[in-house]
Amino acid sequence: MSPERRRKAEELAARYPRRQSALIPFLQYCQEQDGFVTRQAIRDGAEMCGLTEAEVESIASFYTLLFRQSVGKHLIQVCRTLSCMLRGAGELQEHIRRRLGVRNGETTPDGLFTYEEVECLAACDRAPCLQHNLMFHYNVTPDEFDRLLETWRASRPAVSLPAE
Ligand code: FES
Repeated sequence: MSPERRRKAEELAARYPRRQSALIPFLQYCQEQDGFVTRQAIRDGAEMCGLTEAEVESIASFYTLLFRQSVGKHLIQVCRTLSCMLRGAGELQEHIRRRLGVRNGETTPDGLFTYEEVECLAACDRAPCLQHNLMFHYNVTPDEFDRLLETWRASRPAVSLPAE
């Protein structure tokens, strides 16, 4: 682990009664530094918490806001759970895949857009919903998506997760 990362690991671990509780904030920090949770971040997380790499890997791969590979400047996550599916998420997903020319989990060749279908985003009362770089959009129709896409193409925000 690099000295800088070790300093951050100790700072985060000091905030919790158990070191393992600091693992997710630590992985978020690593992601902010590297763009995604790298192999090295998994090793560092294991060292920090006294866990195996497999245990850290299982945690990193469980959360949709931790990325195991680099993502585009625009991360689009569409809910695929029941309420959204009943309210047109399937049609929306198909539309987005066609518009971007990608499948679930892929990034456009220009590196701008990553598309993911994720579990419930906890906005079921305003289904179908999606998140763009962690910002919610509700009751999204294919037409509304096209409007949003134009806005996003005009800007180039980076995905950034707050590290504790
Ligand atoms: S089912 Fe889509 S937000 Fe809950």
